[in-house]
Amino acid sequence: MGRTIPDPMVSAVRYHDRTSHIRHRITPHSLDFSRYPVPFKTYEYPARIPLNQGGGFRGDRSGNQDLTDLNVSVGQVMAGEVPDQEKMDLETVSRILALSYGVTLADRARGVLFRSVPSAGGLYPCQVYLSAQQVDDVETGLYYCDTVQGFLGRINARPLDQETIGPDRDPAGACLVITGIFYHSAWKYRERAFRYLLLDAGHLAEAVLQAARAAGVCARLCYDFNDQGLVEGLNLDDSLEVPLACIFLGPETALDKKDDAKPFQPAESGPEQVTPVVYDILKTAYQAGIPIAQPRAVEQDPEVFTQKPDPMLSVPEPGQFETMSFLHAVTRRRSRRNFSSRNLPESVWSAFFYRVFTRMFTGPAPDETGAAADRFVTVAMISQHMEGLSPGLYSFSRDGAALACRQTGDLADDLARVCLDQAWIGRAAMNFLFAADLTAVEAALGARGYRYVMMHAGRIGQRLYIAAQELGLGCCGIGAMYDKEAAALLGLSPGSVLLYAVSAGPVK
Ligand SMILES: Cc1cc2nc3c(=O)[nH]c(=O)nc-3n(C[C@H](O)[C@H](O)[C@H](O)COP(=O)(O)O)c2cc1C
Repeated sequence: MGRTIPDPMVSAVRYHDRTSHIRHRITPHSLDFSRYPVPFKTYEYPARIPLNQGGGFRGDRSGNQDLTDLNVSVGQVMAGEVPDQEKMDLETVSRILALSYGVTLADRARGVLFRSVPSAGGLYPCQVYLSAQQVDDVETGLYYCDTVQGFLGRINARPLDQETIGPDRDPAGACLVITGIFYHSAWKYRERAFRYLLLDAGHLAEAVLQAARAAGVCARLCYDFNDQGLVEGLNLDDSLEVPLACIFLGPETALDKKDDAKPFQPAESGPEQVTPVVYDILKTAYQAGIPIAQPRAVEQDPEVFTQKPDPMLSVPEPGQFETMSFLHAVTRRRSRRNFSSRNLPESVWSAFFYRVFTRMFTGPAPDETGAAADRFVTVAMISQHMEGLSPGLYSFSRDGAALACRQTGDLADDLARVCLDQAWIGRAAMNFLFAADLTAVEAALGARGYRYVMMHAGRIGQRLYIAAQELGLGCCGIGAMYDKEAAALLGLSPGSVLLYAVSAGPVK
């Protein structure tokens, strides 16, 4: 499979800039519900394997046993403390898919099926494929994972080549590939959709990693696959749908070469029920990131704030707190925006930080992808009503164990204003902010670095959601902002941008 490197017509920096929202300059756009994208694909499947998605997952149509025997806590999953099992079988794959992308709430009146992960606009543009090499009860091959209707649909007798999914990685028994369909997000977000695809893909990648840990399977995330090879292997039209991340499941394994002899017969998906509107900038932004750059050494982590930090404050020890069943947390998770101005006790916010940041990229399978992206994403927070912490803007140390004040005062209402006047943001005790110097990212990692930092922000966002659920706090992602106003409010350096924000705190 050949690899073409197109001329990058837009760099990541330029894409982000060109899709900035400017107050009073957003062209009006009414949502056309007659063109609402159906969130799953259809194929003429030669074979379907039902998934056991379990009770608690309200989209379940398989009627099989539930997942209530999954006795692991949020704490065990997020700190990577669940012992790995040796076997990868259909049951394990079912669990991982149900916990990460299963339907957990059906709003029949509006015709929306909500999933275990959040998604901008509730549009779920990400798709998941399984390349099965050695999975008990699953014939070797390539499958489309329909987590809405609850089955694996076979789309090719041959699994994906290792060279394509992870050129420098050790092979595993299975690999999940996350893709994004442009129009499924562009229906609402138009040219800005690539941003949302990446953030959503980051949420989903983290959800898969956590679900795999809960199912006792080691999982490794890889952003550096062969794009062209994957587009061909999945038989995608890359002006409509593009690969974004690969996750290897199970221990490293020697692969059985006999599958190479199987014919490569890529299945063609059925047409979209509505003809997608194509925004050229989305494909161009994706293509700019196809080359995988040799990372250039960066001596210092790029500084995104212009204000000098105050001395670091250590985050207090969390003390004892009650953890929650992971299954419970995932099935009940929702975006909650009804924030209250109740004081947030120090014991709760310290536990929350501890849960989100502790062992984020360590554990049994060190997460190289996460560690590489982490250097370029600064996590900060606008605080209010937090016991023992003055209101202001703080940046976190890389390990989340310390905070440095950058600005004092009540900034939450200002943040609400720059986030398209979404007033509820002004009531949240904690507004987490993910910022990066995109010029530095691109210089060090090439235009592909944009994918890493956006997905990385989504990954931490997912950790915030699950930790908030465990501690009884509300949480909601924020992708909508007047970009330049946000940068000015936060005092970002030239070249630095706010990638994403997530509100969290006590709710009514
Ligand atoms: C990347 C991303 C951006 C989001 N941006 C916003 C936002 O700006 N405003 C908002 O009210 N909700 C936002 N949300 C929350 C989604 O609307 C919510 O996840 C979706 O409606 C599904 O509902 P659920 O999270 O309760 O399952 C965002 C979620 C994600 C993942």
